[in-house]
Amino acid sequence: MISPQTIQQITNRIDIIDVVGEFVKLKKRGANYLGLCPFHGEKTPSFTVSPGKEIFKCFGCGKSGNTITFLMELEKYSYVEALRWLAGRYNIEIEETEVSAEAKLHQQAAESLHIINGFAQSFFSQQLWQTEEGENIAQSYLEERGFRKDILEKFQVGYNPQSRTAFTQAALAKQYNPELLVKTGLVVNRNEELMDNYRGRIIFPIHNNTGKIIGFGARVIGKADRAPKYINTPENEIYVKSRILYGSYFARQAIDKNDECLLVEGYTDVVSLHQAGIENVVASGGTSLTTDQLRLIKKYTNNLTIIYDGDSAGIKAALRGLDMALEESLNVRLVLIPDNEDPDSYVNKVGTTAFREFVAENKKDFILFQLEIMLKEAGNDLNRKNEIVNQIAETLSKISKAEDFTKQQEYIRQCSGILRIDEAGLTTLVNKYKRDRLSKEEKKAPLPFDDAPPQYDNAPPDSFVEPDLFSHDEANEKKILQVLLEYGLREWDEQHTMADYMFEELEQFHFDNQLMERLFEEYKKAYLQGLEPTAKTLLYNDDKELHNLIINITISPYELSQRWDDVMENMHILDRDVSREEVTSSLLYFKMKKIKKMFDQNQQDMENAKTFEEQLRLIEIHKDLKKIEMDLIKKIGTVIMK
Ligand code: UTP
Ligand code: MN
Repeated sequence: MISPQTIQQITNRIDIIDVVGEFVKLKKRGANYLGLCPFHGEKTPSFTVSPGKEIFKCFGCGKSGNTITFLMELEKYSYVEALRWLAGRYNIEIEETEVSAEAKLHQQAAESLHIINGFAQSFFSQQLWQTEEGENIAQSYLEERGFRKDILEKFQVGYNPQSRTAFTQAALAKQYNPELLVKTGLVVNRNEELMDNYRGRIIFPIHNNTGKIIGFGARVIGKADRAPKYINTPENEIYVKSRILYGSYFARQAIDKNDECLLVEGYTDVVSLHQAGIENVVASGGTSLTTDQLRLIKKYTNNLTIIYDGDSAGIKAALRGLDMALEESLNVRLVLIPDNEDPDSYVNKVGTTAFREFVAENKKDFILFQLEIMLKEAGNDLNRKNEIVNQIAETLSKISKAEDFTKQQEYIRQCSGILRIDEAGLTTLVNKYKRDRLSKEEKKAPLPFDDAPPQYDNAPPDSFVEPDLFSHDEANEKKILQVLLEYGLREWDEQHTMADYMFEELEQFHFDNQLMERLFEEYKKAYLQGLEPTAKTLLYNDDKELHNLIINITISPYELSQRWDDVMENMHILDRDVSREEVTSSLLYFKMKKIKKMFDQNQQDMENAKTFEEQLRLIEIHKDLKKIEMDLIKKIGTVIMK
């Protein structure tokens, strides 16, 4: 763990313009900077960076965040990786906090494995390119298969010589620990003798998302007769098979740009497609996809296209467990390569353009594809067909996000067509499965908005009305937080800040929106600890939901739009201090809303009241509420009149 002091040091040094400027060409516009958005293709800039608020927002695609989330989104770093990157950039020495002995051991082992793998990679590359054996045996094989040198170098492909101990000797000479060498899978212990595991094989290093080598795939040269075609790294501290997508390090930016991830089976498929200029491609290693792998893909795109050879045993494996992809809102399509070819051989045969065209024209939706396969297998078996109807209904019921509703309808239409059953009947069945699952699962509280940010036009809006991110109920709650973040630290009276005043006024109340309640509590906690919380400081914690909320609260299109900046500068609107009015009115409206809710609740209770006494009591409450409401309305009147 990086110590809080170090994090503080790093965040103090951050200059968002400097960091973002490294990836995006920025031009100054008013108080802000403007550039072409790196997250989506655009010709007119709508990517805005505010150095004052230390945040960025694209009004084209809606992405927003601070310096750290920028690095996380663009470079696909984790929070900690982003911090380390920044520390490196600003020459800040990282101080680690005390970790448990176990975690420390794990970390040390992981680091050593990375180091050994790095050494091994350079050893294997050197063997491939600079030895006679490498040239005669490995280079000639790779050449024959049509791999170019620059691409092999990019993927750091290498060669492990045939001698039993070439690598082992070199590694021991470097004083690497024998136990760790075995752990990497590069070396094996046979009858107390250490020897190379990948003798005479082509080596494909596997990189993690920051480019470090976590393992290898080692292929025999030529046909695999007795030995297995590939030997893979055993599971260890850094090689966790279920989380690996080969090639993701080289593909991530292309996947982002194309908004599509191609998934193939093998190492050579990835390398060949890259060579052909198709770079948004990763490999699964031929096994069924895991949730972790799907999540990894979803970090970059919602569109997954699986490209397998037509008679691969891998197809079934790949399709298994893909229902999960539906829950994650991934659009999965399938392309089968014909004639015993795989993507590697096919692209070599037909070339880049024809390959791209083939993929574009032959993409099949995986649900419909699956349905067709199952129906074909079922033949005339009515029982089996019945099962299939149920199975597909269950699959479709997993499309559960509100925004996917039309997609689900469309599937129901198409599937009922293929199955030749009544569309309404299938709808009923899908809903039944949905209800079953809902009653099983604890209902999770919905977030006020999901990951997909709202879409804005480039043009500044006509009025101060902001696109409504929240239901109307929550607008009042949002306003409170906005005011608190903006003015909380200012003076209310001689002894109190505006935050003090707001806390007192809100003591009896709760936020309906859980996330907003959390932000309110976070602020309060920091404030009571004597820190001086602002949107900026609160953004530096590792909570994505809070991040999104803070950004959506503190940034609005008109505020950052360049033309508005100019208008406001001319009108000197910003000179007038509106903080008191804002604090007062936001509190009033917030309370009004809550009182209204209490009214409704009370009304309902009255309708259900069983005894006369109970009714009387409720009527008293009603009167009290009415009185409070009248007071509030009066106050609102004065605030508005001012
Ligand atoms: P393939 O047999 O399709 O190999 O297995 P490939 O990658 O296309 O290699 P070439 O083109 O024949 O040289 C697909 C993937 O399955 C895993 C590897 O990840 C391989 O890339 N695999 C295959 C193994 O792990 N072990 C094996 O013995 C075979
Ligand atoms: Mn192949």
